Amino acid sequence: MTYKLAIVGFGTMGQAICGGLVEAAGRPPAEVIVCDKGKGVRARAEALGVAWAASPADAARQAEAVLLCVKPKDLGAVLDGLRTAGALDHDPLVVSIAAGVDLAYLEGRVKPTTPVVRAMPNTPCSIRMGTTVLAPGREATEAHLAVARTFFEPLGAVIELEEPHFDAVTGLSASGPAFIFVILEALAEGGVQCGLPRAVAVELAARMTLGSAAMVLQTGRHPAALKDEVTTPAGCTIAGLLALEDGRIRSVLARGIERAAQVAGGLGK
Ligand SMILES: NC(=O)c1ccc[n+]([C@@H]2O[C@H](COP(=O)([O-])OP(=O)(O)OC[C@H]3O[C@@H](n4cnc5c(N)ncnc54)[C@H](OP(=O)(O)O)[C@@H]3O)[C@@H](O)[C@H]2O)c1
Repeated sequence: MTYKLAIVGFGTMGQAICGGLVEAAGRPPAEVIVCDKGKGVRARAEALGVAWAASPADAARQAEAVLLCVKPKDLGAVLDGLRTAGALDHDPLVVSIAAGVDLAYLEGRVKPTTPVVRAMPNTPCSIRMGTTVLAPGREATEAHLAVARTFFEPLGAVIELEEPHFDAVTGLSASGPAFIFVILEALAEGGVQCGLPRAVAVELAARMTLGSAAMVLQTGRHPAALKDEVTTPAGCTIAGLLALEDGRIRSVLARGIERAAQVAGGLGK
C-alpha cells in the first residue's frame, strides 16, 4: 500500500492538518497514514478514517510525502530514526512545520537528493481560517511546492516567502493567535467593567476583531487610514486611543512579536 501522505506527530497541528485534508478538502482518508508516540493515536486516526502506523519509519516508507509535525526538540531524533531505518531512501517530499528548525538543519539530516519544504502554519488552521507560509529547500521544485500547497490550502491562506523571514513569520503569524486571544480577553474585560454581561462582551470583542481584520484584507487599505475613519474629533474613540497610547500599546505589541521571533530562532538549536 502506498499513501500520498504520512503525518508524523499527530498532536494539535498534525490533527488539524489531517482533519482539513479529509473533512474540508475531501481527500480520501485512504491516502493518509499517521503516526504518534502517544497512546490514543489509533482512536484519533480511526475517528478520521485514516490509517495509522506504529513508528515514523513504518509511516514514512509507505508515503510519497512526509509531514513532520513533532515539536522542534523531537525533530532531530525523528529524522535520525527515519534515516537509520532507510525510511526516506525513496526520496519522498519532506515537509516540516517545526518552529525555529531551518532548512539547512533539515537537509543535513536527509539524503542530498531528498526534497524538503519548510512550512509555518498557525492554530486557526484547525477551523480552516489559518495562514501557512512555505519556503522551498535546495531540492524542492515548483512541483514539490505545489504538492505542499495542497496540504495547507484546505486550512486557509498559503503564502510563499524566503526562509530568512521564518522567525519573524513564527513570531507574528504562529505565536500571534495567542497574543490576539489575550487582547480579546482584555477588550472583553473592558466591556465587563462597563457593565456588559461577560458572554456578550467576549462575542462583541471577537466579532469586532474579525470584521476589522476582514476590512484590512478586503479593502487593502492601511490600518491607520481605517482607524482615522472611526475617530471623530473630540469624540470617544480618540479619547480611548490616547489612553491606549499612554500604555505604549504599539511598542508593547511590536516588541512582543520581536521577542517571540527571537526565541523562535533558538528553538531548533
Ligand atoms: N501549536 C502551534 O500553534 C504551532 C504553530 C505553528 C507550528 N507549530 C509547530 O508544529 C509542531 C507540532 O506542534 P503541536 O502544537 O502540534 O505539538 P503537539 O501537540 O505536542 O504534537 C506533537 C506530537 O508529536 C508526538 N511525537 C513526539 N515525538 C514523536 C516521535 N518520535 N514519533 C511520533 N510522534 C512523536 C508527540 O507525542 P508526545 O506528546 O507523547 O511527546 C505529540 O503528540 C511543532 O514543531 C511546532 O513548532 C505549532
